[in-house]
Amino acid sequence: MKEIEITTSALLYNDISELSLDDKMLMHKAIEARKTAYAPYSKFSVGAALLLENNQVVLGNNQENAAYPSGMCAERVAIWKAGSDFPGVKIKKLAISASSSISRVDKPIGPCGACRQTLSEYEINQKEPMSVLFMGEFGEVVKTISLLSLLPFSFDSSYL
Ligand code: THU
Repeated sequence: MKEIEITTSALLYNDISELSLDDKMLMHKAIEARKTAYAPYSKFSVGAALLLENNQVVLGNNQENAAYPSGMCAERVAIWKAGSDFPGVKIKKLAISASSSISRVDKPIGPCGACRQTLSEYEINQKEPMSVLFMGEFGEVVKTISLLSLLPFSFDSSYL
């Protein structure tokens, strides 16, 4: 037996104003998308904006349902929209912003595990890293260089 160590790294910005112009613009699109989320049950709204290699921006937000598990996260709404409308077009970046109407969200909100798994399939297929930026409504922004840096020991089609 031996212990292995897996490390990851990310950039941490104090707030959105510290981002590059391109990153800031994409985050603003995620913020706009967040504002039309359908989240009547959790009151927690998430917006996602994907920048494709053809410079198209694809947006998504969470869509809840009275049958709770039938709802869907913003990130998967966006990535499936991209996969459906722009098949084979590489995704350069993903920006995510979250807010709540019942509490102040001032910490960066990373994508949930199921979204990381879903997004990783697209990153693996495109053979190029997909940068991920995420924040709450206010405050710090995290930027990772790739999706897989957020998902060690991920499952992929090579295991099948
Ligand atoms: N949610 C997302 O949209 N993305 C995530 O990565 C985590 C959670 C949504 C799902 C649900 O509508 C609400 O946030 C509360 O969990």
